Amino acid sequence: MKTRLGIFISGGGSNMQSIAKACEQPNFPAQVSLVVSNIPDARGLRFAKQLGLKTVIVDHQSFSTRKDFEQEIQKHLVKAKIELVCLAGFMRILSPFLVEKWQGKMLNIHPSLLPKFRGLNTHKRALEANEKTHGCSVHFVTVGLDEGPVIAQSTIPVLSDDTIQALQARVLIAEHILYPQTIKQLCQ
Ligand code: GRF
Repeated sequence: MKTRLGIFISGGGSNMQSIAKACEQPNFPAQVSLVVSNIPDARGLRFAKQLGLKTVIVDHQSFSTRKDFEQEIQKHLVKAKIELVCLAGFMRILSPFLVEKWQGKMLNIHPSLLPKFRGLNTHKRALEANEKTHGCSVHFVTVGLDEGPVIAQSTIPVLSDDTIQALQARVLIAEHILYPQTIKQLCQ
């Protein structure tokens, strides 16, 4: 039986697409069973629909509390029989309410070599810190922001003439390989 994935997005959804593509391989041990977006017009939703994936919009702005928002998400996850949640560019911080329900079963991809550069603007900060290497990490989600145990990392060199955009683009390519690979290992 393939592991049923729920992928959370807020934007472009390129990581979601790379996971969905990997899931198309017959021997891949997981399938995308639901894509959740908190942004009604997230670009990634269009790609998800093109790929024939089931999608749901849970707009955080429609809920007066974080718990109500997360309760609605949880309802959809249960209904779709989700077994593993993959945050992929999901730009809401989740509270203990949802995180604790999915302990050990919720992953995130972060564009830095954690524990370096938690939070936003990781590429800019890596350049400013004169890092020689940079990359991305897949980690379990815990209540602390980008603090959960790291499962896998991919490292790339920082070039002497790198710009934020160039570095970001190369890290994103690494993300598209690392995330499906890590899901495969976990599900096998
Ligand atoms: C990625 O860099 C991911 O690591 C970060 O947000 C970006 C999302 O990109 N959390 P996409 O929506 O998957 O294209």
